[in-house]
This record gives sequence, structure tokens and C-alpha cells, in this order.
Amino acid sequence: MKIYSRITGTGSFLPPRRLTNAELVAELAGQGIETNEEWIVERTGIRARHFAADGVCSSDLALEASRNALQAAGVDAKEIDLIIVGTSTPDMVFPSTACILQGKLGNQGAPAFDVQAVCSGFIYALTVADAMIRSGAAKKALVVGAEVFSRILDFKDRTTCVLFGDGAGAVVLEASKTPGILATDLHADGKYTDILCVPGHVSGGQVLGDPLLRMDGQAVFKLAVGVLDEAARAVLAKAGLVAADVDWLIPHQANIRIMQSAARKLKLPMDKVIVTVDQHGNTSAASVPLALDAGVRSGRVLPGQTLMLEAVGGGFTWGAVLLKL
Ligand code: UT7
Repeated sequence: MKIYSRITGTGSFLPPRRLTNAELVAELAGQGIETNEEWIVERTGIRARHFAADGVCSSDLALEASRNALQAAGVDAKEIDLIIVGTSTPDMVFPSTACILQGKLGNQGAPAFDVQAVCSGFIYALTVADAMIRSGAAKKALVVGAEVFSRILDFKDRTTCVLFGDGAGAVVLEASKTPGILATDLHADGKYTDILCVPGHVSGGQVLGDPLLRMDGQAVFKLAVGVLDEAARAVLAKAGLVAADVDWLIPHQANIRIMQSAARKLKLPMDKVIVTVDQHGNTSAASVPLALDAGVRSGRVLPGQTLMLEAVGGGFTWGAVLLKL
């Protein structure tokens, strides 16, 4: 009998410290950095973001989001037989944030590893978990996106520091007789490494090179709009569906203008798009599962509906997952 994978629970977590644009603008002004609320809202749609307290790591945010997802699925952490965390801000160089999360959850024995695909991290992680479940290698997976991007922001660079926030989202993905995940599509193009990167690295006990996020925003914007549409059309074609069959578009929450463009190209109205970028900015790999959980918990995203998840990020990486909830 054919095995599929299906999301049985979603969860998310935002650290308590919330900074509105006005608060961030005032903090930056104190450091001589000029920006303003109007620019941030008009160019990005962001109104607030959450920053983790000192000492709080991706695994801490992942733990809260995972507990929420496990509770929603009615699954005990000990039953989980696969843990994948999408993150580009791991707690340590090694071990993986997935292993640290596993220890905090009290799970033993399940394979646990990180996927590093920056803002596409959750889409990559979900695709890998789906493949492992369909192959019979796992039955109950915990798939997480967790980030503390505040740790890699240059608060002297107004073109990036106003865009990002911290958070985590998680899903429980279980083997099922009925689909679930209908189609997935992943891509990368390594010739674009320079347009979005943290170029530094650890060597000989020191951080060498620039350890902060650098982005050519316009180049990323242009690429993002094109590849998101390609990925969305690819999963629709693979599943034999059309855009009108999609109940909810849940895109990476980087910039409202990119999301509007993605919806426009698919001829989907904005009231079929889950938007959370206004509340938490760009949380990289956490953004899609955060938005999914917000949709579910607000009662808009319902069992049986068809969802298009899509993301794009550093690498350059991009992809989409089409699924029935
Ligand atoms: O998560 C991975 C994917 N990442 C993304 O999807 C990000 C994609 N890129 C973007 O979202 C947009 O390119 C940005 C939001 C980053 C920038 O928006 P933009 O409309 O492309 O602005 P721009 O870079 O063309 O800058 C326009 C102006 C510049 O001033 P001049 O040269 O026209 O005088 C900037 O210096 O806006 C200025 N500017 C700011 N002004 C006030 C840039 N940042 C700020 C700021 N406050 N924070």
C-alpha cells in the first residue's frame, strides 16, 4: 500500500520581546542610524518583530514551537522517529540544533539533523521528511524552522537590520494512507551565494571574516519573484492541480511586495494569502511554519484545505510544497 505523509499538528513560538517599528527606529536613532516607520512599512509591510533575550538560542524557540505542535497532534515527544530543524542560526557550530532540541524534548534514538537552506530551510526540511516517510524510513517526524537572526544582524546597516526577527514554527508530519503532501519542488543555484550571506567563519579559535548578514536586497527581490512563481507552478503541475484549487498561499514572509507579486502571478486574491510579516518580520526558516500555525490557530486554515507553501532564500535556494491539510 502506498504511504503518504500528512501534517497532524502545527505549533509556533515568538520570543516575548516585541519591537514595533517606532521602538526600533528610536533605538537605531540613538546609535546614529537614520530610518523611519514609513519607509519600513511601505517598502516591506513590516510593523513589528520579536527578538530573543540574551542567551536564548534557536533550540529554545524550537522547543516551545515543537511542544505546541506535538500537543496539537496528540503525539508524545518519545514517539517521534525523525527530527529535522531548518536553521541558519544554530546554537553551536556542532552538534546540530536538532540534536540539542532532541535532548531538550527528551526524545532518544530518532535521527536528528539540521538543514541549512536559509529562508527555504523549512521547505527543504519538510520535503526531506516527506521523502523519508514515503520511503518507510520514518513514521512520525518533527519538522521545525527556528532562527535567532537578531544575532547576525548589523545594527549599523539600516538596509537589513529593520527586516528580520526571531521565532520558530514546527509541524508533526505522520505517515498516512491518504495524502497529505501532494507535491514538492526544491532548487538551488550556487552562483548567487554573494547576494545574501554571512561570509564569516570560525577558524583557529577566532571568527574570521564578516560574521554579519549582508544582502543585495534588489537582486534578491528580483530573483525571488521569478523563482517563487516557477516553484509554485511546478508543484501544481506535479499534483495535476491549478492555482484556483489552492485555498491558502502561505509564502515566506520576507516582504509584503514579494508576497503580493507571488499571489498576482497565480491570480490569487490577497485574502487567500496568510500574511504575518507585519507582526514578525522576516524570520527566515521559521517564517513559513509560523505563518501556517497562525493560519491554523486563527481558524482560517482548515483540515481538508489545499495549501501552497513556498520560500526563497540565501544559497540561492527556493522551493514549494503543495499539500492537503
Ligand atoms: O529572506 C530572504 C529573502 N529576502 C528578501 O526577500 C529581501 C528582498 N529584498 C527586499 O525586500 C527589498 O529589496 C528591501 C526591502 C531590502 C529594500 O527595498 P527596495 O525597495 O529594494 O529599496 P532599495 O534597496 O532600492 O533602497 C531604496 C532607498 C535607498 O535610498 P536612495 O539610494 O534611493 O537614496 C536606500 O538607501 O531606500 C533607502 N533605504 C532606507 N531608507 C530608510 C534602505 N533601507 C532604508 C531604511 N530606512 N531602513
